[in-house]
Amino acid sequence: MKQSNYFSLKFVRNDSPGENDKLVFLDQTKLPLEEKYIETEKYERVAEAIEKLEIRGAPLIGISAAYALALSIKTVNENFTEQFYTAYKRLSDTRPTAVNLFFALKTMKDIFEENKDSANLYEILLAKAKSIHKEDEEFCCKIGRNGLAIFKTRATVLTHCNTGKLATGGDGTAFNVIKTAFENELVKFVYADETRPLLQGSRLTAFELEKCGIPFALLADSSAAFLMKQKKVDLVITGADRIALNGDSANKIGTYNLALLSYHHKIPFYIAAPSTTIDRTIASGDEINIEYRNKRELLAISQSQILSPSYNAFTPAFDITPSHLITGIITEEGVFNFPYNFIR
Ligand code: MRU
Repeated sequence: MKQSNYFSLKFVRNDSPGENDKLVFLDQTKLPLEEKYIETEKYERVAEAIEKLEIRGAPLIGISAAYALALSIKTVNENFTEQFYTAYKRLSDTRPTAVNLFFALKTMKDIFEENKDSANLYEILLAKAKSIHKEDEEFCCKIGRNGLAIFKTRATVLTHCNTGKLATGGDGTAFNVIKTAFENELVKFVYADETRPLLQGSRLTAFELEKCGIPFALLADSSAAFLMKQKKVDLVITGADRIALNGDSANKIGTYNLALLSYHHKIPFYIAAPSTTIDRTIASGDEINIEYRNKRELLAISQSQILSPSYNAFTPAFDITPSHLITGIITEEGVFNFPYNFIR
């Protein structure tokens, strides 16, 4: 197994005079051609990174927002409450679909309210952000191990978008199921959807598969049906951004297509996600707020304009897969099967 020598996000303590604590993150918009790390001590820069997808993936968005809230009060001497809630609002407004963001923000808000008069407020908030990060790392480990149960034979797997170390606080969700299964000789090959328009599959999943030494091929999103028809896929595994109580799951645009194709071709279709991706306030996917992105992302590739900027475009970033199309949902607690009922 090759060693991966990159990280998505790191908090760095700095005790030197005149220096501040900071967050260091890998700019995912530059991958795979450039591994460039950005350092910041400002919550506003983290919010901007989430909007631009320099930081992305449901769990990582939540983790970075938690650190950003702690940093937001670090250099403030008074009006902590005003500063905290300004940062809270700014971070809440970055991306609407991944529930992990709102889960992390609410957790930090509760801690802030309980401790706002404490002289150690920053340290308390920071400790909470670190625990959210650590918990996600542990969830990733468990998801990887729990996912082994879905493999009947050595499989060829198809995945969509990016769900690895780049998207989480650990080794990933769907990606870690694939990686753990590969390490246990249960995965022989991976097909990675390119994931238009922002190419999270061909830029980021390919980057991570290569780092882990897992054999793979890329495919255009529209090739999956043809591939499945040739019986070249045994399993489909993706992540999720928000799962309703009935199991309906929002994930990167194109996931629903894959679930429908899997159903038609009788291929098991799994979602892997931590329990922090389950939104216990919504009964079904109808209540999920889908993000629409700027049409520039469809009319250009990277910085290259390929189409007339005047064209109109339909630009959802996510779609919702109805739960009856999902064979199983793998969380840190185990593998759940349809019909889902996540009420506890
Ligand atoms: O727009 P993105 O790149 O943030 O979308 C990411 C996804 O859709 C992932 O599949 C999801 O967040 C799960 S990441 C473990």
